[in-house]
Amino acid sequence: MTADQQSPTRSVDSLKLNLGCGPVQPEGWINVDGSMRAKLASRLSPIDSLLTKLRIFPPTEFNRKTRILDLRKRLPFDDNSVDAIYAGELWEHFEIGDARRLTHECYRVLKTGGVLRVCVPDGVEFWRTYLEKFDLEMGKSRQMRDSTELANHVGMYFRDICTRRIWFGSLGHVHKWQYDELQLIDLFESAGFSSVGRRRFHESQIEDVASVERSDFLIVEGLKQ
Ligand SMILES: C[S@@+](CC[C@H](N)C(=O)[O-])C[C@H]1O[C@@H](n2cnc3c(N)ncnc32)[C@H](O)[C@@H]1O
Repeated sequence: MTADQQSPTRSVDSLKLNLGCGPVQPEGWINVDGSMRAKLASRLSPIDSLLTKLRIFPPTEFNRKTRILDLRKRLPFDDNSVDAIYAGELWEHFEIGDARRLTHECYRVLKTGGVLRVCVPDGVEFWRTYLEKFDLEMGKSRQMRDSTELANHVGMYFRDICTRRIWFGSLGHVHKWQYDELQLIDLFESAGFSSVGRRRFHESQIEDVASVERSDFLIVEGLKQ
């Protein structure tokens, strides 16, 4: 049975989804990813092991238990069946229309009282740093100014974040949107979530959030009431 053929919901007390899990795959969560490497390691693990042994591919955390889904499509879970959904550094990898659809899908599958928590890079922080670097250099005399750090910062955005391609690696290397607190909260509220707000690292209504949350970026959480 392939991961996609697994039963749509599982009869466990608490059903928690870790969407776009990458290497973060704790016990107690359904760890979901859709990259080519995740597919290979989950569905053809002997081939993946061989290619890793031959050093054609680097070692991976993806394994047979990784649930393979393309998260741009409808989630294969029943309405009102999921207790909590976490997504670390995932939403920015979708076109905004796909992100909207997925936020609505999360609302649909969550139970009443269920929680969605999304962590994304903070666009405001990124461009604030750019402006600080710019102001710092412009405050210097003309002969002392140096644009290297500014160019590196812009390069990180265009070369490393927006256009990098790793064919058999992760789907997680190209950003297709940039969020700030206002946009992300709006996205949650448009999908129907209540009590939506920015949250601190590891502060959550999801009890064991520390097992999935690795990044302290812009974190927003909302409740299905
Ligand atoms: C930057 S990684 C984040 C890994 C981990 N959640 C963390 O917080 O460090 C983004 C992950 O999302 C996955 N991903 C991106 N687009 C996806 C899609 N359409 N369907 C399923 N997974 C996707 C990538 O394969 C990648 O593993």
